[in-house]
Amino acid sequence: MEVIIKDTYEEMSIEAAKIIKDAIHLKPNLVLGLATGTTPIGTYKELIRMHQAGELDFSKVVTFNLDEYVGMPSTHDQSYHYFMHENLFNDINIAPDNVHVPSGVVKDFKRYCQWYEDEIAKVGGVDLQVLGIGSDGHIGFNEPGTSLASRTMVVTLTEETIRDNSRFFDRIEDVPRLAITMGVGTIMEAKHCLLVANGKKKAGPVAALVEGPITSQVTASALQMHPNATVIFDEAATSKLKRIDYYKWTYENRPEV
Ligand code: PGA
Repeated sequence: MEVIIKDTYEEMSIEAAKIIKDAIHLKPNLVLGLATGTTPIGTYKELIRMHQAGELDFSKVVTFNLDEYVGMPSTHDQSYHYFMHENLFNDINIAPDNVHVPSGVVKDFKRYCQWYEDEIAKVGGVDLQVLGIGSDGHIGFNEPGTSLASRTMVVTLTEETIRDNSRFFDRIEDVPRLAITMGVGTIMEAKHCLLVANGKKKAGPVAALVEGPITSQVTASALQMHPNATVIFDEAATSKLKRIDYYKWTYENRPEV
């Protein structure tokens, strides 16, 4: 796992956006996995800036989002459909047909989850998957105890996630209890995983992800088994890491390839 530590949230976001930009330059029809949450907003802002500066063309890029709340129509201002359009899609030249965000309002979720997997497979799999990490260590909505081999499915959110996400709702009772999410196994098939985390609230999950045991209790720890995972943190998120000096040393001395 490549661990990159930046002083600030802004620098973390710029670094993540640069990795995405380089990947799109290398492959204009990149299959890009996207995440919601507060963390990647800075990365998306930087991608929008790059696009508006004429440095980045999304016209051939295909996107797949990780998750969505069950029962949430795409028009709801707390849906992840809405979030993605507000924070990225409305301001870049992505083709609407190339955008995939799982639907939270389908009749037959079992069939729909398989369809979502098939759509990813049809375009050759995700090339680069952007990820955040939950305070309970989740990636996507793969809560503690989820199989590390799981595929796209409907899951029950933990109380912790519901509490975390209640900041966007009027009342905690309004936070959906269920979500549809790519599985850990689905995420692990991405050719490159790129996780961003910032702030001291994420120090515990970050330490568990990088230095803890691989366990379904912290689904992000599965990334230790990924052959090409990059994690980018701001300084505040690294306070519980034991080998910070080595990660910085490795980054400074990384081979130019
Ligand atoms: P956050 O969410 O970026 O809002 O902290 C991260 C996550 O739950 O994956």
